[in-house]
Amino acid sequence: MIHRKRGRAPASAALAALLTLSAAGCAGGGVTGTPGGAGLRDPYFPRLGNGGYDVRHYALTVAYDPATRRLDGTAEITARATQDLSSFNLDLAGLTVHGVTVDGERASVQRAGHEVTLRPRADIEDGATFRAVVRYSGSPRTVTDPDGSEEGWLPTADGAVALGEPTGSMAWFPGNHHPSDKAAYTVTVTVPEGHQAVTNGLPGRAVTRGGRTTTTWRSAEPMASYLATLAVGRFDVTTIRTPAGLPVVSATDRTVTAKAAPLAARVPELLDWLMEKFGPYPFSSAGVIVERAGDSGYALETQTRPVIPYDQFTPGILVHELAHQWYGNSVSPASWRDMWLNEGFAQYAEWLYAEEFEDRPAQESFDEAFADEANWAFPPAAPPTAADISGPPVYDRAAMVLHKIRQTVGDEAFSGLLRGWAAEHRHGNASTDDFTAYVEEETGRDLTALWDTWLYGEDKPARP
Ligand code: TRP
Ligand code: ZN
Repeated sequence: MIHRKRGRAPASAALAALLTLSAAGCAGGGVTGTPGGAGLRDPYFPRLGNGGYDVRHYALTVAYDPATRRLDGTAEITARATQDLSSFNLDLAGLTVHGVTVDGERASVQRAGHEVTLRPRADIEDGATFRAVVRYSGSPRTVTDPDGSEEGWLPTADGAVALGEPTGSMAWFPGNHHPSDKAAYTVTVTVPEGHQAVTNGLPGRAVTRGGRTTTTWRSAEPMASYLATLAVGRFDVTTIRTPAGLPVVSATDRTVTAKAAPLAARVPELLDWLMEKFGPYPFSSAGVIVERAGDSGYALETQTRPVIPYDQFTPGILVHELAHQWYGNSVSPASWRDMWLNEGFAQYAEWLYAEEFEDRPAQESFDEAFADEANWAFPPAAPPTAADISGPPVYDRAAMVLHKIRQTVGDEAFSGLLRGWAAEHRHGNASTDDFTAYVEEETGRDLTALWDTWLYGEDKPARP
């Protein structure tokens, strides 16, 4: 099997909180808040994301010039406070912050590492909806992951592409960058005339003025920030509507269009097939972005519109990334420890594709994965370090877990589980415990032995 990915608040916050206490007291009617957490204690990335609020909507206005590699951005973040807040954090790596307002009033801002702390004039009451606006600019950085691969902002031959799994989206916009805080997005992007910019969701009309082209894209359904993408370059963009009315907007780098177009045209057919397996498609648009080889070293299931470099643009990988729209994108991991729920299902979709279209039973894929020692390095539900969350067991051994469930409960019950799991947590987040409880509940079986051996076991079982 090919593995896809080869390729705390500053000390002054306490003082600030005290000052706010007296200020709020004077204002009368105000609440006395405390600082929101500077991280969500993810098992692998404890400082990722922020506590004290829940983002509802990001309105990002971004201009990018490939010639200078400069990005100018404004992020309008609409959020709901989940505690009385004196200050709260956003994650942003690099770039310069020019000004910040909260509910239209200037707020103070402090930066430490990737934490940006915003302190509004008045504390925000638990449950209140507020709007933070951050103006920023600079040359966005490429982030190197714990496993050595590159994400964040990747300059390409003709522009750039943003990839954000697991932490790279903070390289191009400030936000609550943990998959547990999903939100709707509106992205307005401006590029030099002659370039195209493609992101998630549905585009409005492109307007060209003064040598620059601006388009607004909307993603109505909730999206984890790691699934946001922005591809700037010279693309052929096609829009079709499926017979069921789903808009499919695809972009192929102009140098690969001739070769990539036939497979790109299969997106509607593959989605129809996946809908039979997994249930209704969860989003209101679809498509694919095909970059030239080397522009991105690996594929990513960016929401509604995966990014795939041409050298990896195969039916198997396309099916894998489209399957993530159900598993990973609609049903998102509760934490980065739950990665196997993304990759195991996407890998299993490849096995199902091989079973139905390539005359290769899933059992054969299982046997090959079972024989590969790389898949036994660690249990899929417990990668030892952050560098392992994209390791072989998270893909193939996780798919083996699903195959063991299928063997145990039978094909019919298994296909009910695939659809049911996607329905149960549609547009939400789910953990490994949610999954094992769901399967046991639905099937009425105690599957402790299966979990202990296949999901959590350190050792390779004697035989499958
Ligand atoms: N999710 C991607 C895929 O399967 C691969 C990937 C890219 C990944 N970056 C990652 C997996 C970071 C885990 C962590 O197509
Ligand atoms: Zn994947």
